[in-house]
Amino acid sequence: MWVFYNGKILDLENVTISPFDRAFQFGDGVYEVIRYYPEKFFEYDSHLDRLKSSLKKLEISFTAFVNIESILYELIRKNNLDDQLSIAYIQISRGVQFPRRHYFDDGMEPTVFMYVEKFPARQEEMKSGVKAGLEEDIRWMRCDIKTTSLLPNVLSKQRAVKNGVTEIIWHRNGFITEGTQTNVCFIKNNELITPPLSNFILPGITRGIVLRLCKKLGITTTERDIKLSELNGFDEILLLSTTAEVIPVIEADGKIINNRIPGPVCRLLQGEYQKLYNAESR
Ligand SMILES: Cc1ncc(COP(=O)(O)O)c(C=O)c1O
Repeated sequence: MWVFYNGKILDLENVTISPFDRAFQFGDGVYEVIRYYPEKFFEYDSHLDRLKSSLKKLEISFTAFVNIESILYELIRKNNLDDQLSIAYIQISRGVQFPRRHYFDDGMEPTVFMYVEKFPARQEEMKSGVKAGLEEDIRWMRCDIKTTSLLPNVLSKQRAVKNGVTEIIWHRNGFITEGTQTNVCFIKNNELITPPLSNFILPGITRGIVLRLCKKLGITTTERDIKLSELNGFDEILLLSTTAEVIPVIEADGKIINNRIPGPVCRLLQGEYQKLYNAESR
C-alpha cells in the first residue's frame, strides 16, 4: 500500500513515526476524510477549507495546501484505485516534540500523513435504514474542530457496535447535537430541521450539501435547537456524512420511525445527492 508521509510517497512498511509525535502523545492533530467517486474527489474544496479552519483553530502552522490534491490523485493511481469508490484520509499533526511537554514550541514542523482506501457505498444501510441509540454528549466544547482526539466518539461507537446499533445520536443539556460520525437532521411535514452550526457540532460537508439540495428542491430548511423530547414527533430521521451520504434511521432508542420504512424526503435527497456526485465525477 502506497501512502504519503512527510513529503514522500512510500510503501506503508517504510513509514516510521516518532513516539514523540504530538498526535501519538496528545491526539494533537486534525484530519479530513474525502470521498473519491471515480474519477474525482467530491467537494474537495469544502474539505480543504474545513482542514484549514481546523488547523487555524488549533494554531498548527501548515501552508503546503496546494500540493495535497495532486498527491491524493497520485495515491489513487499508485494504489490502482482509479475506478474504485474510495476515500482519502488526511492527517496533519502538530509534529514531533522532545522532551514531552503539554505546551508546544513555536515553529514546529507538522507531520503529514495521507492514504487512500477502497471504501464501498453503504448500500444496504442507505436502502433499508439503520438503528440508532441515544447517549449524552460528553465531548469538549470545541466539537467544530475535526481533531484526531476522538475518545468520546470511539467509546460511544464501541457501545453502538456492542448493542447492535449503527450510530449513537448525542444530546447535550437536553438538546440533540450530532452522531459520533454523522450530522443528524429531522423531517416533519416536509420541512428539514437540523441543529445550527456552533461549537457543539462539526460543520459537516454533507450537511452543507443537503441544505443546498433542499433549497434547490424547495424543501424548507430550519436550523434550530432540537429538544430531545421532540424526537418522537418526527416523520424521518437522517444521518449525514461523507461515507454515509444520506442514511435513514428506522429505529431510534428502540422507538420505531415510520413503521421502519425510509421516508420520501430521504429517498429524494439520496437520489439528488447521487446525481450531484455523478455530475461532478467522471
Ligand atoms: C462528529 C462528526 N459529525 C459529523 C460528521 C460528518 O461530516 P462530513 O459530512 O464532513 O463527513 C463527521 C464525519 O466524520 C463526524 O465525525
